[in-house]
Amino acid sequence: MTIPPRWSVALAAGILGSFLISARASDSTASAADGAPRLRRQGTATLLVVDGQPFLILGGELMNSSSSSLEYLQPVWGRLTAQHLNTVLAGVSWELIEPEEGRFDFQLFDGLVRDARAHQMKLVLLWFASWKNGMSSYPPVWVKRDTRRFPRVQWQNGEIPEVLTPLATSSADADGRAFAALMKHVREIDAHDHTVLMVQVENEVGVLNDSRDRSPLAEAEFAKPVPAELMNLFLQHRESLAPELAGVWTANGSKSTGTWAEVFGPTKPKEFVLTWDLPEEQRKTEWRKLHWPVDEIFMAWHYSRYVNRVAAAGKREYNIPMYANAWLQQPGCAFPGTYPSGGPVPQVIDVWRLGAPSLDLLAPDLYVPEFAELCERFTRSGNPLFIPETDRGPDAGRNLFLAIGAYNLIGFSPFGIDMPEFKQPAASGNSPFPMPSPAGLGDNYNILRQIAPLVLAHQGTDSLVSFALDKDHPSLITKLGGTTVEISLDDIFGRKAEKGYGMVVAVGPDEFVGAGMGFRVIFKPSSPGAPKVGVGTVDEGVYRDGKWIPGRRLNGDEDDQGRAWRFGSSSLQIERCTTYRYQ
Ligand code: DGJ
Repeated sequence: MTIPPRWSVALAAGILGSFLISARASDSTASAADGAPRLRRQGTATLLVVDGQPFLILGGELMNSSSSSLEYLQPVWGRLTAQHLNTVLAGVSWELIEPEEGRFDFQLFDGLVRDARAHQMKLVLLWFASWKNGMSSYPPVWVKRDTRRFPRVQWQNGEIPEVLTPLATSSADADGRAFAALMKHVREIDAHDHTVLMVQVENEVGVLNDSRDRSPLAEAEFAKPVPAELMNLFLQHRESLAPELAGVWTANGSKSTGTWAEVFGPTKPKEFVLTWDLPEEQRKTEWRKLHWPVDEIFMAWHYSRYVNRVAAAGKREYNIPMYANAWLQQPGCAFPGTYPSGGPVPQVIDVWRLGAPSLDLLAPDLYVPEFAELCERFTRSGNPLFIPETDRGPDAGRNLFLAIGAYNLIGFSPFGIDMPEFKQPAASGNSPFPMPSPAGLGDNYNILRQIAPLVLAHQGTDSLVSFALDKDHPSLITKLGGTTVEISLDDIFGRKAEKGYGMVVAVGPDEFVGAGMGFRVIFKPSSPGAPKVGVGTVDEGVYRDGKWIPGRRLNGDEDDQGRAWRFGSSSLQIERCTTYRYQ
């Protein structure tokens, strides 16, 4: 395999990410004309476009087994609709699609699509096949029992777990045939409705309990030279690579050829015992380091090639966006093997993007508190951001709003959405200006569904800003469509909000729409001596079918006697503000 020419040009020009995305997005143009889901570039953002319209996924992922029973899901749909979800991420498993080799059964899947449509819900399919969470529990039994045709991983201690090795093309081809049959069926039943938006290929792949597969197949490959196309990535495009990855290569002497160990350095020492937890003092820093990078790079190459083989087989039948998701390296799982080694984590994203050109994006399962840092590392090369799994904790709304503006998020999907939500009790007290109580996921989705068309029209441009404020990040100053704004934690009668978050869009030269809670906006002259900018009018309201319905005119305490455009701390709001200029 060689680097696609458009990618080479982009890499040479130092604009790997953006060019690559537009190149990949345009790969879907065959289906664009009929409105099938595809990705489209807008400014610095990549939008998901369905039926010609940008679409923001306000989703939730079902528990792993939920979509195996339509009956189980019956009471769930209504609960999801009530929480304003527009998309459900649902597992579709190889074992249920192809219980006997070559005999496909789509009855359950057809029921899922029918019921989603009945509730005006879109679907993202999770292809649970060769791997889920690094393990191989979802292949059908006819695959599991045939260890010759479908060989397995081996650990350093000699043990052979029930996990498929990514080095066997026989397994990739069997998985790919089943996936192609599924995608052909999706095209047959969904090419008009476009209920299915995207597909996740496998789930959290990578080797667990060792940093590398030591099966005979893997050991033979590991002893060979690094493939030329991967070598070229380092030789020709070093400047565009993730710094961690480029650093490994440079630290080992920037070799242009050699075996994996020669080019990328030492492997896991035999005597090292994998530990899941780091000592307390190392938890904050150590987890970000690359440990035995050669093992992780080797596995990333082979998993990406395998997943690409499966994804490409599916895309040949129906070309809609596809992605792979990552179980992240994190403080509790710092070493490859304590998190799946070879999955699409930030340090090996470039390897994945070369190895799996059929994937449109790589996605983090983002449960760690370092939310913004991970968004940054996943998007720095131009990879579009989709978060297929996260939690529904008190920070979900903050994270969601922040990611839409700061990282051009395509979609958000807390895991276990069919389970009851833990809601923080509302803040009380005697103050008429209560401190923020985290709004539930449904409250955030309700607001975002109303303003989604506006948000998507401005995402990726300088007329939209989103933010999450707290004591460490209490304010920001930015230019918004030509007007300078200072956005800070709300502060009224000496009571400062502890947290605030939201989004502001400049919809015209003196007209703004905002949403969120616990912050205030002050308009500034664009340069010293330029006209001052005053708050003209502030209205709260809602969008119904895209039409603005104003509620109260907010003045007095509600706009700090004309000094600020405020979003109070008691509830999530949508507000429109006009400004005027004076000397
Ligand atoms: C991540 C996996 O991708 C999910 O399928 C599920 O197993 C969750 N972890 C459980 O927290």
